[in-house]
Amino acid sequence: MNSLNNLQHFLADDQLNKQQILALITLAIDIKKQPEKYSHALAGKSVAMIFEKPSLRTHVSFDMGISKLGGHALYLGQQNGKLGERERVSDYAKNLSCYADAIVARVFENSAIEGLAQHASVPVLNALCDLYHPCQALADFVTLAENFSDLSQVKLAYVGDANNVSNSLMLMAATLGVDFTLVCPPAHGPGGDMLTKAQALAKNTGSAFTFTTDINAIGQQDAIYTDTWVSMGDEDLSKKAAILAAFADYQVNHELMAKAGASIVMHCQPAHLEEEITTELFDSEMSVVFQSAENRMWAQNAVLVTLLGD
Ligand code: NVA
Repeated sequence: MNSLNNLQHFLADDQLNKQQILALITLAIDIKKQPEKYSHALAGKSVAMIFEKPSLRTHVSFDMGISKLGGHALYLGQQNGKLGERERVSDYAKNLSCYADAIVARVFENSAIEGLAQHASVPVLNALCDLYHPCQALADFVTLAENFSDLSQVKLAYVGDANNVSNSLMLMAATLGVDFTLVCPPAHGPGGDMLTKAQALAKNTGSAFTFTTDINAIGQQDAIYTDTWVSMGDEDLSKKAAILAAFADYQVNHELMAKAGASIVMHCQPAHLEEEITTELFDSEMSVVFQSAENRMWAQNAVLVTLLGD
């Protein structure tokens, strides 16, 4: 555990305070600027990475990022089945703690992440679950900090399906004091508990938090974010037509960017082009999607250095 900021795991955005998130953003930017300074930060350390779901950016950015810190990453794919099926989550956590200095896990259910953290004797990092994607949100705020001189003045909107990515973004925004607008079609908004958490955090920091189903109420924004209308594990082809109809007015395109006066468009990827975002906008100068993809590595390395560094 890093005593400086008391961070034990990296599980959910609302488990970090403003100071901890800002420290991680600053560290990520420093590691990005001078990676050689941190090239031995994880020397002799190993990280076990469990993936129950597919991954491109998360797998590669953790693997290459850990290598840049002088550590060793081990990929554990789906050969061991869903966590908790072949053996208990608690046994998984205890066994991996015998060998690894940290556990990175992408899982279906948040309860698996919590179970790992409860029973592991090493730090656990959430690499996406049904409720949160904190590694992505941290990378996105690094990207916003790089693009806007004062993060606290940024206005960020998320348009689309309320999911793990929007949950993490809105909780981190509210904690940081960044104004956040969430626009989702009716019946595709966040759970009441997530809304309550975001509202409480925003109240504490004095930031504005707006949730609306009215796309015309998007207001003035600096950046607009979107993600797929269907997340991994929720794919059901029989619902595809209904989803396309429900989300048709919520596509992020040049017209919406102009209406909101936004200069930056963000997406965690993979994108379903011509659904939640137009190809033209995704490929445009306004898009910072690859900057955020790169920042995944620097942000995660900041978390690893904080949790594991000497
Ligand atoms: N909401 C998406 C994010 C992918 C990085 C999903 O869970 O599939």
